[in-house]
Amino acid sequence: MHELIVRGGFPLKGTVKVKGSKNAALPIIAASLLTDEPVFIEDVPDLLDVRDMLAVIGSLGASVKYSHTDEIITVHSLKLDSVEPPGYLVQRMRASFLVLGPLLARLGKASISLPGGCAIGSRPVDLHLKGLAAMGAEFSVSGGFIEGKTAGRLRGAHIYLDYPSVGATENIMMAATLAQGTTVIENAASEPEIVDLAGFLNSCGARVSGAGTNSIRIDGVLDLGGTRYAVIPDRIEAGTLLICSAVTGGDITVTNLVPEHLNPLVAKLRETGVNVEEVDYSAIRVTGNSQTKAVDLKTLPYPGFPTDLQPQFSVLLALSKGTSMVTETVFENRFRHVDGLLCMNADIQVEGSHAVIRGRQNLSGAPVLASDLRAAAALLCAALAAEGITVIGEIDHLWRGYSCFEERLTALGAKLQRVKISKSEHSDQAQA
Ligand code: UD1
Repeated sequence: MHELIVRGGFPLKGTVKVKGSKNAALPIIAASLLTDEPVFIEDVPDLLDVRDMLAVIGSLGASVKYSHTDEIITVHSLKLDSVEPPGYLVQRMRASFLVLGPLLARLGKASISLPGGCAIGSRPVDLHLKGLAAMGAEFSVSGGFIEGKTAGRLRGAHIYLDYPSVGATENIMMAATLAQGTTVIENAASEPEIVDLAGFLNSCGARVSGAGTNSIRIDGVLDLGGTRYAVIPDRIEAGTLLICSAVTGGDITVTNLVPEHLNPLVAKLRETGVNVEEVDYSAIRVTGNSQTKAVDLKTLPYPGFPTDLQPQFSVLLALSKGTSMVTETVFENRFRHVDGLLCMNADIQVEGSHAVIRGRQNLSGAPVLASDLRAAAALLCAALAAEGITVIGEIDHLWRGYSCFEERLTALGAKLQRVKISKSEHSDQAQA
């Protein structure tokens, strides 16, 4: 366990390059189970979640090599000899559930413990199971495990998702690539990470069309081949860095991004009065403004405002003049950053899925605890903007989704120090 000591109040300045997308890399790593030929995945950031996903597919028999220096993963799933990823890995990261579709398609069975992940609500998997069941899979749940099996090859089906779940769309899409016949997913998620997964699958020989719209068609093929594929830049990391610039009154240019993926954030940043400049086709510059004003915000599936940036954006609102209303529609319990922000002198009232934020001139440093990945990112944004010193406990959550983040923020002028704390210090803190 680590804590991060942040001396706030310094405007961040400079240029920073975005790394590859965590949420694109994880399903693509799972999808590499669909072929018995080697795949090379480029621009994969070194993150705890990536390491966990590699451990998951390694436990199933895939041979995995990760070259950390050039961020390339090689996966060869020549022979899979297990259909049961270790429960502790699945508990730790919900995205491990994405091996379900590939295992059913390739081996006709899977046994997976009910997934964990960020503590941001109940996060069921009913839509994944409903979709795969429509393709002929049978499921039973016992002792916290989901057992799935198919009688022969999965069959293409017409599937309507009650909600455009990212994970369910991905699981069904992967399974459908090797199914007999055509699958159509209606009310599919249209996130850029879905488009990237389709790009990867098609580069392996799959026939996926319509990704990025709410209707995806997959014509099943008999087998998939190897490929070399680079994942898209991480729009959530990019957005977090742009918000860091806004809240510290800084001047940061974020490069290697896809501006279109940041449209919902850029629109909201401009509404608060922050100066946003599209420098070129792959870079955005944000210059902070000390007079930002309140705006209302509602999270929605893409192309709506991403729930993964709501906690960080709330920090900007906590420092903006007037009263803002934030409505979280994607995950219940995604206000776990608020307790920490209150300790830092923010004025926020949460009621159900709404947070009413009354802007303050300043935040002040305080000891706070990170409860999940994006809460950790939000507290870090707040700490960078606050006057004085903030100590963020359980900062390890941050490394699930942000690679080399302290080093890269330090290069922009942030004053940070990571400290390792002993188990006993950690349990004292948890009890406090
Ligand atoms: C993915 C992202 C996560 C992001 C989220 C929404 C990854 C690894 N994670 O998570 O960072 O915050 O999309 O953009 O890509 N739901 C059901 N039944 C299901 C599946 C989902 O009710 O079977 C609900 C969930 O409880 C949640 C909502 O749908 O309320 C969105 O979940 P989903 O889109 O599936 O998110 P994830 O794929 O888990």
